[in-house]
Amino acid sequence: MTANELRAKYIEFFVAKGHAEISGKSLIPENDPTVLFTTAGMHPLVPYLLGEPHPAGKRLVDYQKCIRTGDIESVGDKSHLTFFEMLGNWSLGDYFKKESIAWSYEFLTSPRYLNIPPEKISVTVFAGDENAPPDDFSAGCWESLGIPRSRIHYLPKEDNWWGPAGETGPCGPDSEIFYDVGIPPCGADCKPGCKCGKYLEIWNNVFMQYNKGPDGAYTPLARPCVDTGMGVERTATILQGKASVYDTEVFRPAIAVIEKLTGAVYGKDEETDRSIRIICDHARAAAFILGDPKGVTPSNVGAGYVLRRLIRRALRHGRKLGLEGPFLSEPARVFIAFYADCYPEIKEKEAFIYSELRKEEEKFLETLKKGEGEFEKLLPNLLKNPSKVIPGRVAFRLYDTFGFPVELTEELAAEGGLKVDRRGFDEAYKKHQETSRAGGDQIFKAGLADHSEVSVKYHTATHLLHKALKQVLGDHVAQRGSNITPERMRFDFSHPQAMTKEEVDRVEAIVNEQIRRDLPVTMEIMDLEEAKKSGATALFGEKYEQKVKVYTIGDFSKEVCGGPHVERTGVIGRFKIQKEQSSSAGVRRIRAVICNPGTV
Ligand code: ALA
Repeated sequence: MTANELRAKYIEFFVAKGHAEISGKSLIPENDPTVLFTTAGMHPLVPYLLGEPHPAGKRLVDYQKCIRTGDIESVGDKSHLTFFEMLGNWSLGDYFKKESIAWSYEFLTSPRYLNIPPEKISVTVFAGDENAPPDDFSAGCWESLGIPRSRIHYLPKEDNWWGPAGETGPCGPDSEIFYDVGIPPCGADCKPGCKCGKYLEIWNNVFMQYNKGPDGAYTPLARPCVDTGMGVERTATILQGKASVYDTEVFRPAIAVIEKLTGAVYGKDEETDRSIRIICDHARAAAFILGDPKGVTPSNVGAGYVLRRLIRRALRHGRKLGLEGPFLSEPARVFIAFYADCYPEIKEKEAFIYSELRKEEEKFLETLKKGEGEFEKLLPNLLKNPSKVIPGRVAFRLYDTFGFPVELTEELAAEGGLKVDRRGFDEAYKKHQETSRAGGDQIFKAGLADHSEVSVKYHTATHLLHKALKQVLGDHVAQRGSNITPERMRFDFSHPQAMTKEEVDRVEAIVNEQIRRDLPVTMEIMDLEEAKKSGATALFGEKYEQKVKVYTIGDFSKEVCGGPHVERTGVIGRFKIQKEQSSSAGVRRIRAVICNPGTV
């Protein structure tokens, strides 16, 4: 079954079950500055899931274009994608678990629809915790349909819970449906949720039945909803018995175009395959972003920055395969033709897509030429270094002077059997930030090197984190460094021992509370002494000019800093600490991300 047939059958099935077909929305969310892209079918429906009546009724079905960039580094393997399509059906206070599960099962197994043998299906349900009981009801529904208990697995909140989109709001347990691809289990404990590839998640049924209040308590919702999501590419892959999404008719024609352009053969060599897959994924995503009615173009901010990265990374991989000039319009053309019926907007903007791709490609090729030329010049000397490590400051100079991304220096280095001292690069980067923050009349320009919208949010989150750490651990906590990219932040601070889980949770909750309070962020220019007297935190050992900027976040934090910052904390999104670890003696390191509503 092709992806197009799957999409059509899904809509047909749910329309027959009384659902109104609605049209999917823009890839760039409306009125939601906290996320760059629509990441799930439910995203445009949040107001209706929260209780607003939907004009089309209480049962809805659609297909939605989505982008998730959290795993962008993994794209190139056999399964990761940035752009994908999600099929979804919703009950807005209408049917609930019993019907949702029964219809999922019917659609998957009925010979009229997907005809998947029931024995290939395993499911998971929520195991229960202190906030909500185990979802025995859903397990019972699956069992009554013929799924044996041995294939119904209870998993904890990390796996089987969705939402709330923000700190508070509707959320609930979910039940995920997995397809067993038939390879042997990786071990005695192999079950759905295991990453070995035996069990592929194809559908998620979320049962929004609680409201999480500001006090953290979960109260039952008066009007429970169902939100489901099925990945088109993934499901088409298993229906076709293929090992990879790239082996389906969605990608094969674009792969053939790259083969033709480069003379490379897909399926012979893993490195070549990886480059081809990256080109195809990124060309498709870039075409959809450019083809969106919201009209994003490459830039250094927000969605435009992601678009720029996608184009540049694809181009770099094209060069690896021997393509010297712009070429992305070629694979884009194949995708535009493929999706013209379902997403007419991309056909309408075809000429714009090609011209924007070309402009960005030419710009980047110029940067690459300069950076690579510089690298070539440096190479003989670098090769003499017996450690085979390129010092961080050298990589930083390529970045700082020529705009040459460190990832590309790493790739070029790898080709010559060398490595980049990434820590050294990060340190040089940090030092550069600090120098510019401290330097003379630079103070008014200084601060965050990357002014993208996302990085600015991270920057403000850094101040919130700094203060929250002082509140939880004590006043001895002092910032020892920070590093921000549009994907994550790292924050080093003085503290003699590892934080406990409770401390990490409390710090995270305090930061999120300040985001929820939507505090205003204001800036004043003061004399350094006056700033210190006013209680502003200044970094220990940092050299400041006589006049400094002081950023105040509501009643919560006050810090000497070059900025820039967001205007109100509410735009930051949900703050999540991913790791707390040692950095060096007496210094701890926190890695954290901002998760936006709707992302996983
Ligand atoms: N919103 C749910 C998901 O994206 C269905 O998995």
